[in-house]
Amino acid sequence: MKQATLTVRVARKRVEARDICSFELVPPDGGPLPPFSAGSHIDVHVPGAAVRQYSLCNDPSENHRYLIGVLKDQASRGGSLAMHERVAEGDRLEISTPRNHFALAHEARRSLLFAGGIGITPILCMTERLAAMGEDFELHYSARARDRAAFFDRILASAYSPRVQFHFDDGAPEQKLDLTALLGSPQSGTHVYVCGPQGFIDAALGFARGVGWPAAQLHYEFFGAAPTATDTDGSFEVQLASSGRVIAVHKDQTVVQALAAQGIEVMTSCEQGVCGTCLTRVLKGVPDHRDQYLTPEEQAANDQFTPCCSRAISTRLVLDL
Ligand code: FES
Repeated sequence: MKQATLTVRVARKRVEARDICSFELVPPDGGPLPPFSAGSHIDVHVPGAAVRQYSLCNDPSENHRYLIGVLKDQASRGGSLAMHERVAEGDRLEISTPRNHFALAHEARRSLLFAGGIGITPILCMTERLAAMGEDFELHYSARARDRAAFFDRILASAYSPRVQFHFDDGAPEQKLDLTALLGSPQSGTHVYVCGPQGFIDAALGFARGVGWPAAQLHYEFFGAAPTATDTDGSFEVQLASSGRVIAVHKDQTVVQALAAQGIEVMTSCEQGVCGTCLTRVLKGVPDHRDQYLTPEEQAANDQFTPCCSRAISTRLVLDL
């Protein structure tokens, strides 16, 4: 099954910070774009690279454009470099319609938002939505340095700027992010949102879980996540429940690749364990979860996995295919 795509035109490409560009995407012939909610992302078919997910960081009440922010990540597999180096104003891009895996919890009485680096993109949209709704919130925006903080001026110029604290790695000790002060004890009615690189999310969520924040109050989205391939990856088998057919997955192959080699196609999008498009039910066996999409509880249930990057602990997985 092929996912529906839209064609958009790059109306504006702007440097937002060191190594970060924003791209304003508009319908080529005018007219409205499909609506989105704060925290949504789109898939972008990056020219010459794979599909990549980027969060929308403009006001969800706008229907004439989508705004995305892209970090030029030297460690990436080429998607962000291609966006920076090959995509120019006037170019056309294929994108998906917006999807939201990182929505605001409507029952929240207060929101604590944590952005690390380029993780500001969905968090900014969520912050502005909370501000527009007159909600109680605080934004903590961490970056390596001031010149790497995208949308700094937009935030400073906003009416909600008194609710924002910046934390720069190269700044004074007293401005550093203090998780103990902010998350030291779970607060009922407060929801926590975290987006950024894996280390940033692990630190914030690990701390919050460690002091007893309920999972239902913790929301997160990874950025720039890459599946962890290791030298110790071994081969294993997958069995298709429908036909009983057994397919070997070699150590240097993903399950999706092994299935494709046998003519069995699983729909994918990010191919790095963040979007959930390839999610497949596991009927028997124990997956080795490498994704950033399932919650720890969902992973522990071992009844589904992401075959684009996850592997197996058991010698065979029986899949609902
Ligand atoms: Fe995105 Fe597998 S394709 S999680």
